[in-house]
Amino acid sequence: MMNEKGAHPEPGDFGPLADDVSQVLYTAAEIGERVREMGQAISQDYNGRRPLLIGVLKGVFPFMADLLRAITIPVQVDFMAIASYSRSTRQQGFVRLQKDLDEPLEGRHVLFVEDVIDTGLTLSYLLRSLRARGPASLEVCTLFDKPQRRLVPIPIRYKGFDLPEKFVVGYGLDYRELYRNLPFVGLLKADVFGRDNGV
Ligand code: XMP
Ligand code: MG
Repeated sequence: MMNEKGAHPEPGDFGPLADDVSQVLYTAAEIGERVREMGQAISQDYNGRRPLLIGVLKGVFPFMADLLRAITIPVQVDFMAIASYSRSTRQQGFVRLQKDLDEPLEGRHVLFVEDVIDTGLTLSYLLRSLRARGPASLEVCTLFDKPQRRLVPIPIRYKGFDLPEKFVVGYGLDYRELYRNLPFVGLLKADVFGRDNGV
């Protein structure tokens, strides 16, 4: 069954997947509206330029897809992939690149697009590495922010929503690679975390 806009199934259509969610924080419609506003702001601010949106796989892909289609000026997109890291290397802000960008950044107006900024350690490392490639500008756009969790300051140019200091899933965000397909974002029930393979 579709909602009135026909874009997404309703939460109730997801059966056991949605049953694992204790609270919906942002509905598909709320996310859609905010993403459209962000796309409009970016289109105005970058008018006359041709920004390059950069995302880190995999969590950002639904946001990137929706944001891209909310931008009405010429725009390009590129992705990188990083290895998941241990707690100790993460604390030092190290990440290992599994897939680098296809595009050179020199002279480009780069907009780094994130799903969620938490401690900021990963992003801070990536921004340093991207800045060294000589972009004309480098700004950050994140759909979600957990400001209370920040360990290093991150200048955010575009922000969708703040989140509580809790783990969330949906709209690309996963727990053990599940729940990315939920069109809304919510909290998982406590008992889900102990489970072997979820759902
Ligand atoms: P930093 O380096 O800012 O890490 O601590 C940001 C990355 O952590 C992941 N992350 C989450 N993933 N639900 C998720 O599925 C969450 O609530 C969450 N909080 C942080 C995510 O990969 C993000 O890019
Ligand atoms: Mg991410």
